[in-house]
Amino acid sequence: MSDYLLALDQGTSSSRSIVFDRTGRVVAMAQQEFPQIYPQPGWVEHEPQALWTTQLATARQALKKAGLSASAIRAIGITNQRETTLVWNRKTGEPIHNAIVWQDRRAEATCVELRDRGLTDTVLQKTGLRIDAYFSATKLAWLLDNVTGAREQAERGELAFGTVDSWLIWKLTGGAQHVTDHSNAARTMLFNIHDQRWDGELLDALRIPASMMPKSLPSSADFGLTQAEWLGAPLTIGGVAGDQQSALFGQACFSAGMAKNTYGTGCFMLMHTGERFQISENGLITTAAAQPPGRPQYALEGSVFIGGAVIQWLRDGLNAIQSSSEVQALAESVPDTGGVVLVPAFTGLGAPYWQPDTRGSLTGLTRGTTVAHIARAALESIAFQSTALLAAMSRDAVSAGGVEVQELRVDGGACVNDLLMQFQADLLGIPVVRPAVIETTALGAAYLAGLHTGLYQGLDELSAQWRAERTFEPQMAREEAAEKMGRWEHAVRQTVAT
Ligand code: G3P
Repeated sequence: MSDYLLALDQGTSSSRSIVFDRTGRVVAMAQQEFPQIYPQPGWVEHEPQALWTTQLATARQALKKAGLSASAIRAIGITNQRETTLVWNRKTGEPIHNAIVWQDRRAEATCVELRDRGLTDTVLQKTGLRIDAYFSATKLAWLLDNVTGAREQAERGELAFGTVDSWLIWKLTGGAQHVTDHSNAARTMLFNIHDQRWDGELLDALRIPASMMPKSLPSSADFGLTQAEWLGAPLTIGGVAGDQQSALFGQACFSAGMAKNTYGTGCFMLMHTGERFQISENGLITTAAAQPPGRPQYALEGSVFIGGAVIQWLRDGLNAIQSSSEVQALAESVPDTGGVVLVPAFTGLGAPYWQPDTRGSLTGLTRGTTVAHIARAALESIAFQSTALLAAMSRDAVSAGGVEVQELRVDGGACVNDLLMQFQADLLGIPVVRPAVIETTALGAAYLAGLHTGLYQGLDELSAQWRAERTFEPQMAREEAAEKMGRWEHAVRQTVAT
């Protein structure tokens, strides 16, 4: 009986594939990194072929490690780095340029122009997004304006645009399907998330021909059949979601007020808002949640630019540790930070501060400060930034007549750090819950595919399947937590002012 699911997780630094059994247990996993290309400061690209070949290779390896043939796989789910922009020729399948990665800032001038043309509110109301070079729209406009002949070809209907999910589906189906899902489409700044369609006014504003756009489907749907040559048999692609919405789904956060935080290189926090489209009053963005077909559901999202990356900085920048796993022991070798506060605004500060030009600071140093205090302050900075995000979400939830977030579900590499998770719970004053399966990004895509193919009957079944591995209850007095948070906010203000 084919009741295994294969999730393809195409991330910013690596391609991964995971085979899950129907209970959501990881059966086998494979991962491959691919090159990051930095053509000039602020620009980041990926080679489209490398995304595809590493993804395919890991899918094959994962099946092999699991000892399964394709016939044991019920369906494929795809989840991916979002916003990253590709354009290829429909006839030849050849990309016209490298993929422009979500971190790439080359399209900032176009964003200024859009703001000057008075489009800020239109974009916000239609897409839920702030005008920013992070999203796909201005990257796509850049490609049309800067790749020789691209605009003419696009106007003749010869080019296809896609985020990474579309590109992989195009390759997997041998060019038969040019599709995406609503959660990825919602990150392009070209998609109206109310009526779930590409928006003519926004396409026109950037002179993007509508013929380039993929068909957008609910996240659990028929995205096509893979060519038999890739994995040994044709397989249904039944689930697709942008990685952060996929993680929200994999955490079984299906209803308003449920929230998750992914502690990766950066941190991405999402709170489900049910069927309520809500514009944040606290610096967050609004996005489409991953869901089976039905009335549109939404989430509020905020991101911390430097999360786990601060631990890499301790390792590679300061040589304070040899490997990331040493950080907990070093931080625990002192009882507290001794008054040291690190604001890791290495690439500016994201939500809710939105200070892109600010740079980091280390304050409160004394003769007694050691590298252990700095390591502890580095870990704490991840929790402080996440707390500021959750506070913003709770304020938005309450002002919309909802309740504050009751617990935070966590995943991503740094969630294995118990010291960090306990400090997070202490600051938040609510339980922080780590699930038994922390591969929730891939799991979300697998679940979406499983739902489409009838392996699961509905969301209740998935909620019942979700299990906590450990709950971190807040232990710190609220006054102490407030005082620490106050000291953090003070350090942020100082940092922004300099
Ligand atoms: O919005 C960007 C996000 O989707 C990237 O996620 O996990 O590939 O860094 P990740």
